[in-house]
Amino acid sequence: MSVDITGTEAWKKLKDHQHRIAYRHLRDFFADDPARGSDLTLTAGDLYIDYSKHRVDRTTIELLLGLARAAELDERRDAMFSGEHINTSEDRAVLHTALRLPKDATLVVDGQDVVADVHEVLDRMGDFSDRVRSGHWLGATGEKITTVVNIGIGGSDLGPVMVYRALRHYADAGISAKFVSNIDPADMIAALSDLDPATTLFIVASKTFSTLETLTNATAARRWLTERLGDAAVAQHFVAVSTNAEKVADFGIDTENMFGFWDWVGGRYSVDSAIGLSVMLVIGRDQFSEFLDGFHTMDRHFVTAPLEANAPVLLGMIGFWYSTFFEAQSRAVLPYANDMSRFPAYLQQLTMESNGKSVKHDGTPVTVDSGEIFWGEPGTNGQHAFYQLLHQGTRLVPADFIGFAEPIDDLPTADGTGSMHDLLMSNFFAQTKVLAFGKNAEEIAADGTPADIVPHKVMPGNRPSTSILAPKLTPSVLGQLIALYEHQVFVEGVMFGIDSFDQWGVELGKTQAQELTPVLTEAEKPATELDSSTSALVDWYRTQRGR
Ligand code: F6P
Repeated sequence: MSVDITGTEAWKKLKDHQHRIAYRHLRDFFADDPARGSDLTLTAGDLYIDYSKHRVDRTTIELLLGLARAAELDERRDAMFSGEHINTSEDRAVLHTALRLPKDATLVVDGQDVVADVHEVLDRMGDFSDRVRSGHWLGATGEKITTVVNIGIGGSDLGPVMVYRALRHYADAGISAKFVSNIDPADMIAALSDLDPATTLFIVASKTFSTLETLTNATAARRWLTERLGDAAVAQHFVAVSTNAEKVADFGIDTENMFGFWDWVGGRYSVDSAIGLSVMLVIGRDQFSEFLDGFHTMDRHFVTAPLEANAPVLLGMIGFWYSTFFEAQSRAVLPYANDMSRFPAYLQQLTMESNGKSVKHDGTPVTVDSGEIFWGEPGTNGQHAFYQLLHQGTRLVPADFIGFAEPIDDLPTADGTGSMHDLLMSNFFAQTKVLAFGKNAEEIAADGTPADIVPHKVMPGNRPSTSILAPKLTPSVLGQLIALYEHQVFVEGVMFGIDSFDQWGVELGKTQAQELTPVLTEAEKPATELDSSTSALVDWYRTQRGR
């Protein structure tokens, strides 16, 4: 199932090579190979990707790809796309890539043509969204729906909210969306505060339909609605997205108004399934279809491009290079597009729930550190917050910069002569340049800086980054970007030898929270004796609550 890469010849060669180049500066890499700025780049779909500002030379890339081959990356990738049960701990296929296959494709998995199933649901979503958007589907009092509220958490929230924010300028039917995820009542209260029940549609989005937060929030929303419009209004104001029809019916939503998906779609890979219904309602079926085409474009690239020109493979292997050979703990994701403000948060679930594992497929411990930590904020905001550490801190933080040639909209600069978007992008280019090349003590002193201040001003450089550029933030480009990261996660997961598609690590906290609730509220004795810290915390809380 997986090869332990640390025992391969390719690993040994890479280790030796790393010792040779570990301390080389990016200034030297560029001086020795002036063409690298245009050569160490690639295009994938609409994306132009520059990976020349990484601490790699052409030999490093060859050796990294050699290691990928030794790990049988091609075979693992093909196994995923063909529907083999590569999610071994749950014995499931992993087929989010089937969600974006064109209608005329066929993919038979476990005896079933999954493409036909996918398009049957997409057609139903499309018909439903046409009706809502055109005003043929009305609320209980006969009014048009103008707000959809997606109630979900994790993959049933982070994808839709991120995509909605990124593409909200493509809204074209007077519908806006809100998202409620947290069990903190503040979340639901804030969402409901300015809503008119007559024009609100709730989408209860949960793969399992058994997630505490979602069912609790959905119940609160239903109570809010029925207190205002009566019980019968639920039929017009609630729909569900789930794989669990029985539980949807138990909740009181007619399964006619349920949009399904399948156990082979992981929650964090599901924004392109019916989980994206809120997005489709806002931007319409055609633009949603462009979004799916974007994913498919990157899927084709991942499957067909040779490893040397394969964006997810190269970026995944470069991520692996830093986390494994330079002990980098994290990767910053810095979109120079405010509309992508939730992209880093979305990637946190995608990457960390997937690759935050300590054992391999066979249950034995991993032999390399797994799971990069992803974090970030849009530029230029981040520049005035944490970039200080990126530039002068002692930790190595590789960064992905994402930017667009055309803005969705623009404003003139203060003096009225330029474009604010150009200012934004000049910051993007300046930051990647400064991170890579810095400014050394000699150069700083030459500016007339006093000797005692020089060390404080030294910009060490040699800080790696990837630049990812696209013509414009469109539905298709966003789909391409998401798939680019999905497949990087896959590549790194293969290198670690882990199951990137389960998430057992989230379960224990859920059950223990359920066990603790009656202890907090009714002073029940805990099922198992509490440790002294938790016991004291619970006592303090109960006292504060007057219990
Ligand atoms: O707790 C983790 C998780 O299972 C995620 O993997 C998932 O995206 C989220 O909870 C929500 O699950 P569901 O869609 O079943 O409500």
